[in-house]
This record gives sequence, C-alpha cells and structure tokens, in this order.
Amino acid sequence: MSQLEIRPGLEDVPVAKSAISFIDGKNARLEYRGIAVETLALESSFEEVSWLLLKGDLPTQRELAEFDGQLRQHRRLKYKLRDLIKTLPETGHPMDALQAGVAALGMFYPARDVRNEQSNWLSVIRILAKMPTIVAAFHRLRVGDDAIPPRDDLDHAANFYWMLFEREPTPAVRKVLDACLILHAEHSMNASTFSGRVTASTLSSPFSVISAAIGTLTGPLHGGANQETLEMLEEIGTVANVKPWLEQKRAADPKFKIMGMGHRVYKVKDPRATVLQQLAEKVFVESGRPALYDVAVELEKVAEPIYGPKGVYPNVDFYSGTVYRALGLPSDLFTPIFAIARSAGWLAHWLEQLQNNRIFRPEQEYVGKRNQPYIPLAKRP
Ligand code: ACO
Repeated sequence: MSQLEIRPGLEDVPVAKSAISFIDGKNARLEYRGIAVETLALESSFEEVSWLLLKGDLPTQRELAEFDGQLRQHRRLKYKLRDLIKTLPETGHPMDALQAGVAALGMFYPARDVRNEQSNWLSVIRILAKMPTIVAAFHRLRVGDDAIPPRDDLDHAANFYWMLFEREPTPAVRKVLDACLILHAEHSMNASTFSGRVTASTLSSPFSVISAAIGTLTGPLHGGANQETLEMLEEIGTVANVKPWLEQKRAADPKFKIMGMGHRVYKVKDPRATVLQQLAEKVFVESGRPALYDVAVELEKVAEPIYGPKGVYPNVDFYSGTVYRALGLPSDLFTPIFAIARSAGWLAHWLEQLQNNRIFRPEQEYVGKRNQPYIPLAKRP
C-alpha cells in the first residue's frame, strides 16, 4: 500500500517556483511581475504586457517599438497554412482549429533545439503574432468569406478586429478588446499553463507546448466557461427569470454549478471581473447596454447569499461574454480570444520552465489487479 497522499486536482501542491504572476485569492489581488493587473488593463497595452511577462520588466520605449514592429511583421500566414485552415470543417469549434493551426505552425517553423535563445525568441514572436490571424482566418473561411490579410499599421487588438470584420474598431472598442487581452494574459499555475509546462519539460517545441495548452484551455471548467456563461445567460433570458431559473436548477441538482462562477484560487470576486465591468460601461455607451448584461448582474446578486459563504463569486468569464457580445463577436470565438491573450503567459512559463527544467513525472497510487493469469481467447466464457 502506498503511503503517498493524493491531492485531487493537485490542490495546494506547488509544482514550480515562478516569478511571472502573483495571486492573492482572499484579497482579490492579481499582479503581473509585481504590477497590479487593474493598472495594466487601464494604462498599458497587450504588446507591452506581453513583453513584461516574457522579459520580467517593463520595456523601454525603444524595446517596445522594436517588439511591436516584430509582431506586426510576423502576422501573416503562409498560403499553405491558410489552405489547411480552409479544409477544416466549418462546423468545427474554432478552438480546435486554433490548436490544429498552432500545431501546424510547428511544421513550417521547426524549432526543435529549445536551447537556442535566438530561435526561441523568434518562436515567441511568431506564436503571439500569428494566433489572431489563425482565429480570424478560420472564422472568415468557415462562413464562406475570404480571409482578410493583417494590416501592419494597426496594433495587435485593432488588427485582430480588422481581420474579423474588415472595419477598424472605434477607440472605445479597441481599448476594451486590448484590456480584455491584458486581463486574460496570465494567471499563474492554472490547468492550461500547467499542461504547457508539462509539455515544455519534455523539451518539446514551443508549438507543441502552446497547442497542448490550447487543448487544455478548451474545456468548460477552464477557458470554455466564457462561451457556456453566455449560453446560460441566453437560456435565462430575462432579469425576471433569474430567480425562478436558479431555484429550478438547484431543485433538480443541489450541486448545480453556475458557469462563470467559482475559482480554485479566488474566494472573493475575481478582480478581473470588476475591471471588465468598468470597461464594459464604456462600450455600452456606444453599443447600448445589452439585456444579457443585466441578467448577469441580477444572477450575481441572487447567487451571492447562496454561494458567497462557500467562496463562490463571479470569475473573469462571468462578464467577458456579454462584453464580447456587445463587440459583435460570435460566442464560439470567446475562448479563442482567451487563448490569443493567454499565449503571452504560456510562453513566459515555457521560457521559465526551460531555465531550470526537470521533466514532470509524478507518481500514482496503483489500485488495480495484480498477477492475473492470461486466459486464451478461446477459453474465455
Ligand atoms: N456554482 C455553484 N457552486 C459552485 C460553483 C459554481 N460555479 N463552483 C464551485 N461551487 C461549489 C461546489 O459545488 C463545492 O460545493 P461543496 O463544498 O458544497 O461541495 C464548492 O463550491 C467547491 O467547489 P469545487 O468544484 O470543489 O471547486 P474547484 O476549486 O475544484 O473548482 C472551478 C473550481 C472548476 C472553477 C469551479 O468553481 C467551476 O466548475 N466553476 C464553473 C466553471 C467556470 O466558470 N470555470 C472558469 C474558471 S476561471 C478560468 O478558467 C478562467
């Protein structure tokens, strides 16, 4: 009998020392490299935050200009990759297309020697720059339109919007999209980051690392929650229906989980949800306040006395869906946008893992049969 203690979900088990982001789940505090995420969301840009996460400090003006220039230069996809994306079923989920696209990038840009810092940096640039193009291309092609080439006179957020809609975002829309990318860029040792680090620990290429992380982010208990939250709000439909809907769900299943609520680390409201709400107001001035946003606010209010004592409050995904919907984005693109943002954090963790690598090889407690005889097929009943 094993004496090892199993911690399901590795709860509270540290698996690495990391200097990338800090979370205080009791005090709603999230810092990237020591800087509060709220400040970054309001003051910074996704490009600057990516550098901060990857390099450890804020860039100088020159460093940022060069980094931004490199990102703009590497946005395009090879026509073979675009053709590959075109052949994917249009009914498939864009997260699967993104995962396939990033894995395929690894065939176009082999990066097997992960001890080479120069080629590692080039891979970082390529992955950050091309993920929005892959998502936008899949979206355009699946509805029968041509993919829209990236524009190098637009920043990361505005160019992504352009490639989706062939129009430039208004300043308020650009700011909110950029802030959403910042808010989702990094979040310590969550499931997808851990999955990326496990893959990194085998010295796989960065394209494998990021495609593994994308696969993990897809699930509804993780990044997939933003799409599911919006679909849940649509099912509820009206503010008046919130209370009866929740009562009915809880009667059918006392353990019913509200999508977009709860978090392994935060036992109070996720600070990112609070900033998102502030930013959302700016978009709603232009788009009008969506009815589903009011449904979400009411659900938070009705749920608080029931779930608050368990430490279950809105996480970042509770409000992101209504904001994205106000920007005109289809709901199955919400999680890919999360992945576009989180690629910065995943890549920072990839580089950090390589600095002091040891392959992940945890233990298990074997609970199966032992020393069984093999019975030939003909003799089995
Ligand atoms: N709605 C209602 N009750 C909940 C919720 C929820 N969303 N989340 C947790 N609870 C309850 C559980 O039923 C459990 O209650 P109990 O103690 O009476 O058994 C208690 O809170 C603890 O919940 P666990 O599931 O054990 O918490 P865990 O840390 O394992 O899970 C998770 C965290 C997966 C995020 C969970 O809260 C959940 O499934 N939320 C909904 C999906 C979601 O929004 N995911 C996005 C997370 S954020 C992100 O990935 C960006």
